[in-house]
Parts: sequence; C-alpha cells; structure tokens
Amino acid sequence: MTSDVRNPVFARLFDRFAAKDKGRGEDALRDELVAGLSGRAAEVGPGNGINFTHFPASVKELIAVEPEPYLRRAAERTAESVPVKVRVVDGTAGELPLEDGSVDALVVAGVLCSVPDVAAALAEFARVLRAGGELRFYEHVRSKRPGFARYQDTIDHVWPRLMGGCHPNRDTLAAIREAGFEVERVRRFGFPATARAYPVLPRILGSARAA
Ligand SMILES: C[S@@+](CC[C@H](N)C(=O)[O-])C[C@H]1O[C@@H](n2cnc3c(N)ncnc32)[C@H](O)[C@@H]1O
Repeated sequence: MTSDVRNPVFARLFDRFAAKDKGRGEDALRDELVAGLSGRAAEVGPGNGINFTHFPASVKELIAVEPEPYLRRAAERTAESVPVKVRVVDGTAGELPLEDGSVDALVVAGVLCSVPDVAAALAEFARVLRAGGELRFYEHVRSKRPGFARYQDTIDHVWPRLMGGCHPNRDTLAAIREAGFEVERVRRFGFPATARAYPVLPRILGSARAA
C-alpha cells in the first residue's frame, strides 16, 4: 500500500518545530503520554519518531504507521537508536495495516487534527485495538472559551494550507467519546504555557478504553 499523504514542506520543518517545543518542556508530556504502556503497541502518525524514545521497556513491539515518505524515513532512522523494538510501516489512520484486535495500545499525538475524517480514523483505531485496549492521545483541540474558538475558526481558513492539513479547531475529545471510547483520564492545559494567541494552544492529554 502507498499512502497519498505528502507534505514535503511541513515534513522538513517538523524537526525545527519539535526541537522548539522540546525546549519548552514538551518531553515531560510525551513521557506522560506513553507511561505504563505494555505489550504490543501502535503509534499512528509518529512523524520523525519523536515519541519512540519515551516508550517504556514494557512495550515489547511498537508498530509505527507513518504515511508521509520523508517523515517515514526519518522515523526509520530514529527507530534504529531506541531501546524499544519499532517497526515503521506505511499506512494512514483511516486504513491501518493491522489486524482486528491486534494491539494492546494505540498512541496518537498531533495527528487527529490532520486526518481527513476523524470519525473514520477513530473507528479504525477501535478496530485494531483489542477489547479493553487503550487509546492514548495528546492533541491540540478546539478551545472551550467561545472567543478563542471563534479565533481558531478564522485561522482555520489558512492554517491547514501552511501546516500540513492541520485544523486548529477540532473538538477531538467529543469525537473520541462519540466513537464509543470510554475516556478514563484527560487533562486540559495550554501549551506552550506562556503563549496567549497561539491557535494550537489548547491541548488534551489522556487515555480512553476501547469497548
Ligand atoms: C504534527 S505531526 C505529529 C508528529 C508526532 N506524532 C508528534 O508527536 O509530534 C502530524 C503527523 O501526522 C501524520 N499524518 C497526517 N495525515 C495522516 C493520516 N491521514 N494518517 C496518519 N498519519 C497522518 C503526518 O505525516 C505527521 O507525521
């Protein structure tokens, strides 16, 4: 399968954005995202593999599904130097190259903002997770403050064209619930903490169980 997700400009800028956020304390959030996971896990849209080093040793196999060719190659290089066994494969959130009920956990970070159909992606996550498996998410979302949400709606007219299809104004937590996941834990916060008008400031980080 060859995915048609190609964002060559965004893909090449990704390292720079990620390094900046790392310096702002995002590493601790990435640790929290995957803490305590075990068994067979999948990460969808891993980018350059920035989360790989955060997975605990209790994860015995990580299948990383990355559609963007430049980022997939970067993820393959990252996979060579991390303790957890990682297999990087092509695929999209809407069509994962994984069997039904085949993973104990599925991780997404900064991905549900960019997929073309959030409900279809979440249905696919539910398909590949075993019953009771865990969806871990760290996503930027629509603000709960109406004024800020309106600002995000305005920015959304241009932001996806500059940022690899990313929409700043999605209510991703509601979508996770609507997809039938039971949200067990979620934390809302702004990142970077010092930013004020950053369109992707409102974030959620948490865990939900597949039915
Ligand atoms: C902002 S980056 C996030 C990368 C990384 N997960 C992180 O934590 O920083 C968005 C990622 O989602 C991927 N992506 C975009 N559309 C996708 C899709 N339809 N299915 C799966 N991944 C997708 C991009 O190629 C990129 O790797």
